[in-house]
Amino acid sequence: MLGDSLEEEITFTVPKNVFYNPQMTLCRSISSLAVGAVKQDLELVDAFCATGIRGIRYVKENKNVTHITFLDIEKTAITAAKKNAKTNNLKFDAKYGNISKLAFELTADFLEIDPFGTPSPYLVDAFRFFNPKKTAYLSITATDVAVLCGARMAPCLKNYHAKPLNNEFTHETGLRILIKRIAEVAAEFNMGIEPLISFSDKHYLKTILKVSRSADLVHKSMKELGHVYYCNTCGFRGFSQFPQPCTKCNKETDFAGPLWLGELHNPSFLKTMKTLNSKRNYSEKDEISHMLSLMENEVGMPPYYYNIHVLSKFLRRGQIPKIDTIISRLQKDFKATRTHFSNISIKTNAPYDKILEAMEC
Ligand SMILES: C[S@@+](CC[C@H](N)C(=O)[O-])C[C@H]1O[C@@H](n2cnc3c(N)ncnc32)[C@H](O)[C@@H]1O
Ligand SMILES: [Zn+2]
Repeated sequence: MLGDSLEEEITFTVPKNVFYNPQMTLCRSISSLAVGAVKQDLELVDAFCATGIRGIRYVKENKNVTHITFLDIEKTAITAAKKNAKTNNLKFDAKYGNISKLAFELTADFLEIDPFGTPSPYLVDAFRFFNPKKTAYLSITATDVAVLCGARMAPCLKNYHAKPLNNEFTHETGLRILIKRIAEVAAEFNMGIEPLISFSDKHYLKTILKVSRSADLVHKSMKELGHVYYCNTCGFRGFSQFPQPCTKCNKETDFAGPLWLGELHNPSFLKTMKTLNSKRNYSEKDEISHMLSLMENEVGMPPYYYNIHVLSKFLRRGQIPKIDTIISRLQKDFKATRTHFSNISIKTNAPYDKILEAMEC
């Protein structure tokens, strides 16, 4: 027994052999804000619950969770989740077993998928929980960042049916490959996807999506799939249904995909989350507010970012202006912003030559 722990305002017990990572507190806080930002009552399943801290926080911090079920394949975890839910005065159900079996028995409006490593083997299971629903919400964490953002193609092809690109904006392509795979599985269940918030932090990638049963929405989602391509010679990048040669130096490009080229976030959903965050006393309140603002600025931008230090190498410049100077120069004629993905990178819709021009000292 590791004893009592405290996360935000929740006291809970972490027994030996039951997983708990305090570094994921920010992820749980952002996800809890997302639960609260959904404007409907939710029956929620915390499908990889471990101590239950995630689901307990979702219920205690939000008024719209009407029922919660904890689920875990380990008996020790389910025992801990039950104990912690009772200590926190929750009404709940708890199921011990494999999600792949329980998916046929349970339903959810909001499903939390937070496994070790890749979520890919559980995506089909996830959509079974939504079987009778027209609309539902899916929250997915992937900690196999080395695969999604990796230099090696084979593991990513195996798990996500896509080629990764291990370059300066790899965290965004990794996230977009994950969302693509979710869109494909959703399509098999006649559901279209709409990402509400998607982000990269520390050692994980996270996306929370609205999924809706509609053939039209499925087609719309499938049309958002394509490729991002990148010229290793000059740093030019672009996106389209299929990879293209470099338009700057005519060289062959490397590429990532297929991946999701649509929006990563819904701006009005982010706004609601920001308002909720301002009313809560999370320990990482300011960081969350900052991240949500950056994500708001990312809406409507191309599906990659520019690391200004990497660009300086392509420019062969030792000295470059400050990042805010580059952004304000670009903002005269284009959209340009910092990005939550990296604090030395920018997102902009400016053509590549104009970006390089803005980097002259
Ligand atoms: C990363 S931990 C979950 C952490 C937790 N959600 C949190 O925020 O603290 C993954 C959990 O999933 C459970 N698990 C692994 N495979 C499973 C499966 N096939 N079905 C259900 N639970 C599973 C493990 O026992 C473990 O407790
Ligand atoms: Zn080039």
